[in-house]
Amino acid sequence: MIIRNYRKPGGLVAGIAFGLMLSACGSSDPVGTTGQPPLPGLGPSRCGDVQTRPWCDTRLSPAERTALLLGEMTLSQKLSLLGGDNIIAAATGDPYVGISEGIPELGIPDLRMSDGPVGVRGSPATAFPTPLALASSFNPELARRTGKAVANEVRHKGNDLLHAPVLDIMRNPLAGRTFETYGEDPYLAERLGVAWIQGAQTEGIMANVKHYAMNTQEGQIGLPPITSLVGGRQLVNHVIDERTLREMHLAPFEAAIHEADVASFMCAYGFVNGAAACGSHFLLQQVLRQEWGFDGFVVSDYVLAVKDTVLSLNNGTEIEMPLGMFYTPLLLQTAVLTGLVSMETVDTRVGNILRTLFRFGFFDRADYVRNDDLVDVEGHAAVARETAEQGAVLLRNNGVLPLDAAALGKIAVIGRSAVERPSGGGSSAVVPLRFVAPRDALAARAGGAETLYNDGSDAAAAAALAATADVAIVFVSDKASEGVDKTCLSLDCPALPLSVLVPGLPKLGGKPQDALIAAVAAANPNTVVVLQVAGPVLTPWRDQVAAMLVAWYPGQEAGDALAHVLFGDTDAGGRLPLSFPKAEGDTPTAGNPLRYPGVANQAFYTEGIFTGYRWYDEQQVEPAFPFGYGLSYTQFAYEGLQLEARNGQLQASLTVRNTGTRAGWATPQLYLGLPSPSESVPQPQRVLKGFSRHWLAPGASARASFVLEQRAFSYWDVETGGWKIADGCYAITAGAHSRDLPLNATATWTQGALSVGGCD
Ligand code: BGC
Repeated sequence: MIIRNYRKPGGLVAGIAFGLMLSACGSSDPVGTTGQPPLPGLGPSRCGDVQTRPWCDTRLSPAERTALLLGEMTLSQKLSLLGGDNIIAAATGDPYVGISEGIPELGIPDLRMSDGPVGVRGSPATAFPTPLALASSFNPELARRTGKAVANEVRHKGNDLLHAPVLDIMRNPLAGRTFETYGEDPYLAERLGVAWIQGAQTEGIMANVKHYAMNTQEGQIGLPPITSLVGGRQLVNHVIDERTLREMHLAPFEAAIHEADVASFMCAYGFVNGAAACGSHFLLQQVLRQEWGFDGFVVSDYVLAVKDTVLSLNNGTEIEMPLGMFYTPLLLQTAVLTGLVSMETVDTRVGNILRTLFRFGFFDRADYVRNDDLVDVEGHAAVARETAEQGAVLLRNNGVLPLDAAALGKIAVIGRSAVERPSGGGSSAVVPLRFVAPRDALAARAGGAETLYNDGSDAAAAAALAATADVAIVFVSDKASEGVDKTCLSLDCPALPLSVLVPGLPKLGGKPQDALIAAVAAANPNTVVVLQVAGPVLTPWRDQVAAMLVAWYPGQEAGDALAHVLFGDTDAGGRLPLSFPKAEGDTPTAGNPLRYPGVANQAFYTEGIFTGYRWYDEQQVEPAFPFGYGLSYTQFAYEGLQLEARNGQLQASLTVRNTGTRAGWATPQLYLGLPSPSESVPQPQRVLKGFSRHWLAPGASARASFVLEQRAFSYWDVETGGWKIADGCYAITAGAHSRDLPLNATATWTQGALSVGGCD
């Protein structure tokens, strides 16, 4: 069966205006310079007098207003909107990371852009936990609140557009930007990304989803956050079959349009199947515009993502950032005058920008004015803390956690990262508004218990201290940055040559932390390890320790959040959005330089759709901790899986019950095993198709419901160039994580009809 359609976009833009009416507190202009009343709460329109500038008439549609404005513009005015205008901003990030100057004589305001996925870059802002922590919450509602909070700060720093979220899938755990992703599964990334964008855009900020497509590696031997010599992101060509591309890497971007009505796309640095992402007819014309119907605009990644004036202009990059380098007035004029780029194409590019700006109310409000005092610092800190708590994944616990302050005499806190704030480097680095170190928050929470500290630089001294305590908490961390990949997954990975030579740049690489953990664990059986890491790391000591908690990079509220989780003021809420391998060689890209970092800048995706847990399942390799895994301080039982086939959709529901003695986060997950229609279309054993989140008191239960639309059953058929459902038997399994699925049932597709059961 061929699948043609996708869900319809919602009325999000109306939602933006409504959200702003509720939340904005700018000045109002009772008359308005347009002669029309200003939108409530947004201040006077900056478009101008509707008598002389008819495109300022808000009664007209964005398309009508665009046509009127284009009709008034000279060629050089049009071309001036296609390139960024401030390269210095890209380095400082404050108050914006980029600006595309407007045209005052036409009432076109400057377009200001800011990063990013972890919080606003530049001057102090709320430093949120990394997106990987958010993904671990498996909680789209929290993603919505995070997107809204980040966008609110972006607005109060005077910006209009936000370079976030990242919807690239983690293919290789070494990738320097793993911490910025939502992990290894496209469905999880899609659900989190859609909610994040919706939240951000209700603030009247245009989200700029990135990086389209395939910013899956930074490369080796690099200068973070700039670039790497081997397989570097600006040069690498991702050689990938179309099914893998569509199912694994493009799906979240598609959802960002159809479900979140995202304003803009950032095209990526690299090449996909030989074409620069910012000049690819396939990515920008065929898929983005024609198939997905995207009517926003495309912004290039910063510096040399655009590699060719004519290709990028013809195929659909609207704005080159942070400066027109291939989009200089001279090159653009030449392209038009020689006929390599038509006037019609210029109008399309400029029209895409203007129409989106009209659609998002950009002309019809006052400037967003920088005013940090308008930021709800405590409210945003609460979102950050909640994310750090819900995103902390408890990987092991022999009962030592949660800590009981009343029963403890001495707590040994060990490790430099107990007093530091580990974070990722590059455009997602945020200067926090405040920070309480985990050591200090733990000491405050410990009440009468004495908190002792050792920085761990001398393992023997740390172990000696641990031996005197009732419990030892060892904090370890790694380093990761945009611009260069990690060289290995060990906590003790050696530093990279170039990054250690340049002062001020993030130092990638570790200290002998594995030995520290082993020494402390030998000295104290109640050793808890807290990992503040960018992504998966190797944990050779995991069977020697009493408990392990992965906090990712937990942001500015790390201290309180970790104290809450460790002392059981809340549950350890996180579930893994990616697999933790047992060994370096177990990952899908390990040991094969053609796959990674690529040879002669060509990286081949020969693992196909077997990314992440799909790979471990297929290869029958046991991960250290599987996708979706995470303990709680209570226990849950799963029962009563029911299926119903209705209008070609499968409705599934199950009951999850808290069978323990504490309240906690239940996160039931539903997976689908698809039949393989032919040898050339292999299918993973199971893929995530649904999850939900429930805070359950002891003894309480909830009914979790999931809807599997036709797309959930489909694969990309390269022959027909469309989504297709194979006839056959589909296995539905559900439970706690990808390798603990006690509930199972089946459904069957036969000649376009879905029915429950029927697989015998
Ligand atoms: C990154 C983007 C970022 C941009 C602006 C680039 O290096 O790849 O993700 O938005 O810089 O800071």
